[in-house]
Amino acid sequence: MKAITYGSYGGPEVLELTDVDEPKIGPDWVKVQVRASSVNPVDWKVASGGLDSALDVFFPATPGWDVSGVVEAVGPAVTTLAPGDEVFGYVRKDAVRGGTYAEKVAAPIRTVAKKPVNASFAEAAAIPLAGLTAFQCLVHALDVGADDTVLIHGASGGVGSFAVQIATSLGARVLGTASEANHDYLRGLGAEPLTYGEGLVDRVRSVVPEGVTAVLDLNGADLGVSPDLLAESSTGRIVSIIDPAVKDMGGQYVFVSPDVDDLNELASLFDDGTLTVEIASTYALADTQKAWEENQSGHTRGKIVITVD
Ligand SMILES: NC(=O)c1ccc[n+]([C@@H]2O[C@H](COP(=O)([O-])OP(=O)(O)OC[C@H]3O[C@@H](n4cnc5c(N)ncnc54)[C@H](OP(=O)(O)O)[C@@H]3O)[C@@H](O)[C@H]2O)c1
Repeated sequence: MKAITYGSYGGPEVLELTDVDEPKIGPDWVKVQVRASSVNPVDWKVASGGLDSALDVFFPATPGWDVSGVVEAVGPAVTTLAPGDEVFGYVRKDAVRGGTYAEKVAAPIRTVAKKPVNASFAEAAAIPLAGLTAFQCLVHALDVGADDTVLIHGASGGVGSFAVQIATSLGARVLGTASEANHDYLRGLGAEPLTYGEGLVDRVRSVVPEGVTAVLDLNGADLGVSPDLLAESSTGRIVSIIDPAVKDMGGQYVFVSPDVDDLNELASLFDDGTLTVEIASTYALADTQKAWEENQSGHTRGKIVITVD
């Protein structure tokens, strides 16, 4: 089968479309015929060697953690999925080798769920990693509710676009930072847009004089001013997905986990119209290099999808 692989750490130029063996499945794994994947910054951060101290990478490695597709085969202990089921998932395994940028992927059943019925395969592949991150930060870590005013640093990217929609669906008032070019986009998602960078504290205080009740950091650049954005009664209610140093502020660092229940929640949110997916661009598997280069610009609006035919 065809798969994207890299034989050593490096930039997008190390990616190649190659022929590899089909994956084997264990007793509680499924084999998925991949229809689409999506780009997450972690994919190219892993390939660059940036996570070498934290993750085992076996070369040649196939990158990619997001998937949508059709179950082709199930292991003998699988009871929740069957061949023919349309699924989506965040297929993060214990090591990096057989990823989702391939015609087929072997996925532990703890990583995949039935895809939203109303979603295309492209939309479904855009949701798992970024959607789970937003959901787990807002619902599990911050327990956001209708009394909250949430400030999201980096609200127009993959995670941010889902975070704005999930936070508003929980009843919160949402402020989100982005460049001017994305302010109308953020308004459309339900957030009050603000420009990031110098002067942010004044801009936030001009619209919420008492301060916000929670901060979600999806970028890192403005994490340092986050304590100054919070109302006194909400001291320490900061979550960062970028910098564990948030813990020194009394906050919490989150690293997204594969979770079938949370995937099912996201599927419901999509199917009932609460969650929409913004697709910035779509690339064929053979053009993954270009997809990564686009994402590395740091200004993706929503998600970049990779289709596998
Ligand atoms: N810990 C975890 O579990 C976890 C999970 C997912 C992602 N992450 C990390 O979180 C980050 C965001 O992921 P993502 O998928 O959302 O990335 P992404 O889609 O590539 O993010 C792009 C967005 O970043 C915004 N941005 C650029 N510079 C900014 C700044 N100085 N302040 C605020 N926003 C800025 C851009 O907005 P403009 O174009 O308007 O400038 C753009 O919309 C990445 O570093 C990723 O590796 C961590």
